[in-house]
Amino acid sequence: MGLPIVRTVADLRAEVSQWRKDGLSVGLVPTMGALHEGHLTLVRTALETCDRVVVTLFVNPKQFGPNEDYGTYPRTEEEDATKLAGAGAHLLYAPDVAEMYGEDGGATTVMVSGLGDVLEGEFRPGFFNGVATVVTKLLLQALPDRAFFGEKDYQQLNVIKRFVRDLDIPVDIQGVATVREADGLAMSSRNAYLNFEERDIAPTLYRTISEVSERFKVGGKAEALSKWAAQQLLDAGFQKVDYVLIRHADDLTQEAVKGEPIRVLAAAFLGKARLIDNVG
Ligand code: PAF
Repeated sequence: MGLPIVRTVADLRAEVSQWRKDGLSVGLVPTMGALHEGHLTLVRTALETCDRVVVTLFVNPKQFGPNEDYGTYPRTEEEDATKLAGAGAHLLYAPDVAEMYGEDGGATTVMVSGLGDVLEGEFRPGFFNGVATVVTKLLLQALPDRAFFGEKDYQQLNVIKRFVRDLDIPVDIQGVATVREADGLAMSSRNAYLNFEERDIAPTLYRTISEVSERFKVGGKAEALSKWAAQQLLDAGFQKVDYVLIRHADDLTQEAVKGEPIRVLAAAFLGKARLIDNVG
């Protein structure tokens, strides 16, 4: 049987409130579609602890900059619905832009200052405001018990945890480990932009940040390692490196401290794709 699809907040709430009446717990997996194994892993993880799993599919215009790929972002709803049915999801919520933001686009923005301004926030101004606003709305529209996000977008996961805490949204946010191709490349919908040659180069990102993490642990200096890593990526064929940085894993606004948990985060352009990745 095909996966049921709802497109309005009213229809989503009708489904979820029926489940609630039946005493069932609800998990939410927000996505922008173009689903891959990483997304399906979120669904399977959600099914471990939730009786019902709603996947959302919404390419959110508010999280794309004026020169970014909103117009060309892959839109593959039919294939996505088939994959989700196979993974065991119960409902797909796929609103259009007017349903999400109203005819006037909405006047409210959720903004996480500090954490939302560094790393991705610095190179993609407004990105986290767009993410925080839409995820707040999705959480309030569906009112799930738990919501699941990939660690591939580690800073996004932290931004979401932060505003959920600050706004007292009653949901448990769960991070799920990055799913990688056999050669280490983190799965991402934007990998579809890579041509054959670029696809060969792309795993250098994961290899390089893994090496940065190892070298830092044995005494390497953060600044020198960042420079070394950027050069490695350029030498491999990346055209531009936005950042390779070592941060405190619990507070990405802070430099890494030896002996405490760290996160190495990177973003770099390869052809038409801007790839991001991170390791602990
Ligand atoms: O990670 C994504 O796919 C998006 O940023 C999200 C969380 C679905 C919000 O649009």
